[in-house]
Amino acid sequence: MEIKKIESSYIIHHGLESLPQVDQNLIAYAITQLDHAYAPYSQFKVGAAVRLKDGSTYAGCNQENASYPLCMCGERVALYNAAVYSPYVAPETLAIVIKNEKKAITTPVSPCGACRQVIAEFEQRFKNPIRILLTSDSKTIYELNSVQDILPLSFDSSFL
Ligand code: THU
Repeated sequence: MEIKKIESSYIIHHGLESLPQVDQNLIAYAITQLDHAYAPYSQFKVGAAVRLKDGSTYAGCNQENASYPLCMCGERVALYNAAVYSPYVAPETLAIVIKNEKKAITTPVSPCGACRQVIAEFEQRFKNPIRILLTSDSKTIYELNSVQDILPLSFDSSFL
């Protein structure tokens, strides 16, 4: 037998200043989506914004339902929104912000497993890694180069 070690890394920004202006703008766009989130059940709001290779940006936010399993995450709303309006342009960067109305969250929050799988599908579909920027109530921003860094051993179409 053998043991295989999986390693990943990410960048921690201690403020917006160390990010290029386009990324700062994308985070600002995601933050605007917190006001549009429909989260009456969890009071956990998620805003997301994706920038495509041509510089266009699309946003999304979580949409909850009294039938809880039907709730849709903000990241997926943003990516599907981009796919509707610009189906042939690769996503380049995805910014995700959260606001928990019940308590302050001072560390960036990672996308759920379902969203990681969907982001992975977009990476495969467009043959392009998607940078991910995560932030919350604090100034800290995590920057990931690809969803593969948080979805090792992922399932994809190569198995089908
Ligand atoms: N949520 C997201 O929008 N993205 C995630 O990655 C995790 C969770 C939403 C779903 C639900 O509306 C609320 O946050 C609480 O789970």
